[in-house]
Amino acid sequence: MNCLMNFSNRNFHLICTVIISALLLKNYYYYYYKNRVVLEPEPCFSLLDPSNTTQQPVKDVYDRLIDINDFKFVLNPPTCANSSAGFLLLVIVSSAPGHALNRHVIRTTWGQTSEYTKVVFLMGKIENSSLNQEVQNESLQHGDIVQGNFVDAYRNMTYKHVMGLKWVAHHCPMAKYVLKADDDIVVHSDAFKKFLVRELSPWGASDLILCYKKVEPGVFRTNSKWAVTVKEYPGNKYPDCCAGYAIVYSQDVVIQLLDAAQNAKYFWIDDVHVTGSLAKDISVEPTQMRKLMLSQSRSYALLYLGPFYSGRFLFGPRDLPVEWMLRLWDAIKANSYSYLA
Ligand SMILES: *[C@@H]1O[C@H](CO)[C@@H](O)[C@H](O)[C@H]1NC(C)=O
Ligand SMILES: *[C@@H]1O[C@H](CO)[C@@H](O)[C@H](O)[C@H]1NC(C)=O
Ligand SMILES: *[C@@H]1O[C@H](CO)[C@@H](O)[C@H](O)[C@H]1NC(C)=O
Ligand SMILES: *[C@@H]1O[C@H](CO)[C@@H](O)[C@H](O)[C@H]1NC(C)=O
Ligand SMILES: *[C@@H]1O[C@H](CO)[C@@H](O)[C@H](O)[C@H]1NC(C)=O
Repeated sequence: MNCLMNFSNRNFHLICTVIISALLLKNYYYYYYKNRVVLEPEPCFSLLDPSNTTQQPVKDVYDRLIDINDFKFVLNPPTCANSSAGFLLLVIVSSAPGHALNRHVIRTTWGQTSEYTKVVFLMGKIENSSLNQEVQNESLQHGDIVQGNFVDAYRNMTYKHVMGLKWVAHHCPMAKYVLKADDDIVVHSDAFKKFLVRELSPWGASDLILCYKKVEPGVFRTNSKWAVTVKEYPGNKYPDCCAGYAIVYSQDVVIQLLDAAQNAKYFWIDDVHVTGSLAKDISVEPTQMRKLMLSQSRSYALLYLGPFYSGRFLFGPRDLPVEWMLRLWDAIKANSYSYLA
């Protein structure tokens, strides 16, 4: 009996030691990462304070989208109609019409509407009439689909991105920050909100483009879904630009990029065009956020360690199957640590 007591006592100590070490290690990790937060030594953006309520004027022609002269919003929900001036974040999701399931998952996980976050899904015109009917129904039900009258197609994705900017400029100018996301990612929404409010500013920022920055990516000429002809893009390197699956813009940048897009030649790779060429036109350099993106391997670590995973991240990896979006979301919810601190 005594021996048994001793044994379980020792066991108890061992377990306690392991738990305490794990907690200490977590703290160590947190502070280690916190000090290296991502923000470059000399960021090119600035944070706003409450005294700055300057709103960038919008002088955009409403019914023109780049070279489409009869542009219309086919679906135009009043998402931001009653939002207050302090509204923090609007998420615009480039969505494929057939991805109803992705949209459902986003609405019920990281994209839940709240007083500080709203989400809309961007789409073009849908040529498949039964799919179109489904999307019209979905729009009636959820009122969160923004649809333009250009054909929803692969090479039209720059229209979609710029339409998102246009919609923000005209219909949601009170949002302090805009996240442009793909419909197959997850966002650590609590951590992201805290990041915006604490590490950036609840009053917004200016000249901010925050993303996974690619430095002078090469131009593919053949054998790639990204292949472009010399006529489409003559150089052999693109300017520094963002990976398009998660880009954070400050409101003023949205308005300036829209203006630049309306006056530039169409180029179909939207992340390169908008966050590379156009950002260069308006002299705003993207800020590197690579360390706040969960890589594929770190996402495995998160799934495996669950609540004990202590790395810091705001966004999950790109191109996730729906099932993985759900699994990662469950892991994010369980892993409360990284945003408690
Ligand atoms: C106020 O904010 C705008 C962008 O919204 C920026 O261009 C301007 O420089 C800011 N002014 C001050 C004094 O910080
Ligand atoms: C905005 O407020 C008006 C009046 O209170 C209301 O009728 C309308 O439904 C609201 N719109 C949204 C999108 O919440
Ligand atoms: C049209 O959409 C429906 C689903 O909404 C799908 O089952 C069908 O395969 C699609 N047709 C074509 C030609 O893509
Ligand atoms: C759209 O909704 C209507 C009415 O609720 C329903 O009759 C119809 O079957 C739905 N169509 C699709 C494609 O979901
Ligand atoms: C969009 O894509 C479709 C199909 O590839 C194409 O026919 C159309 O000209 C493109 N542009 C617009 C503005 O719809």
